[in-house]
Amino acid sequence: MKALILSGGHGTRLRPLTYSQQKQLIPVANKPVLFYAIEDVIEAGIKEIGIILGPNKDQVIETVNSVEWDADIEFIYQGDPLGLAHAILVAEEFLGDDSFVMYLGDNILRDGIVQHADKFRSLNPDSLILLTEVDEPQRFGVAELDEWGKVKRLVEKPKVPPSNYALAGIYFFKPVIIEACKNIKPSWRNELEITDAIQWLIDNGYRVEASIVEGWWKDTGKPEDILEANRLVLEEIHPRMDGRVENSKIMGRVVVEAGTVVRDSVIKGPCIIGKNCRIVNSYIGPYTSVGDNCVIEGTEIDDSVILDGSEIVQAGRIVESLIGRNVRIRESNSKPKGYRFVVGDNSNIVL
Ligand code: G1P
Repeated sequence: MKALILSGGHGTRLRPLTYSQQKQLIPVANKPVLFYAIEDVIEAGIKEIGIILGPNKDQVIETVNSVEWDADIEFIYQGDPLGLAHAILVAEEFLGDDSFVMYLGDNILRDGIVQHADKFRSLNPDSLILLTEVDEPQRFGVAELDEWGKVKRLVEKPKVPPSNYALAGIYFFKPVIIEACKNIKPSWRNELEITDAIQWLIDNGYRVEASIVEGWWKDTGKPEDILEANRLVLEEIHPRMDGRVENSKIMGRVVVEAGTVVRDSVIKGPCIIGKNCRIVNSYIGPYTSVGDNCVIEGTEIDDSVILDGSEIVQAGRIVESLIGRNVRIRESNSKPKGYRFVVGDNSNIVL
């Protein structure tokens, strides 16, 4: 079995971060979201991985290649993002005659995919889809099941959802899905929808089975989803102290990476502080991830994700925030007293 991991798309709902960074590279607990997908497919015994690339292709290649993976990775450029079924067509040559798992690179699954891969191998259907109960099914592809739990119908982002079972972005396929993708038409959002291709399988008498996701699942499409995924991953973090702590209090499960100095501060886990940071006279509270090379001075931060290279100095109390790379936030002493912003397009500020 092969794996196709999708790492394209414009990530419009994560602007402004996605103007300069591919959305699947945004870190959750200091690890790019995409790496969780790669780790999951490798854990399921898959040795051949194709990664679909979009606008920031070089960035994705460089980040993925910065790690030694126990698998062969091939990069496939999608060009215009014309839908998930289009991504399969672009990968036709890579997929060949093999079964494969398609994994959306912005999805995170607590328990990985091993049990679902086993189910696909043993039941041997034409497709196995992962379903999970959600509160807002209209945001996703939704499955209608019959009384025996068999998949009857799939609809993409329905106004009136037939159930609460959303399609998680992980799908197992036999090669017949390629024929399905060739036989469907673009949707109202002008995309070749994978949901329609799976519906084509059902309509043409192919076997589609469902597997229910037991642990949590998160699609990290929006800033609040990144924060929520960060909380969920940090919830299970193992403490580790590789940095230096001076006159500070460390409580709960905290990871501090090498080269980091924590001075005159309080850190309350679960949280992670990256490499080569300076945390001085500050409070870092639960569910916070601070990237590498950050400086935090005289500031309290709770429940937030701070990316690499940011400097936050005398900034009061920051909560539930997603802060990009190399951001500077500091108190101003000059007159007139007031907020001063240099903020990119589509930024979001709550005072
Ligand atoms: C895509 C799929 C949808 C699925 C979702 C999971 O939606 O089209 O069926 O439920 O991923 O993350 P999109 O992220 O393209 O809106």
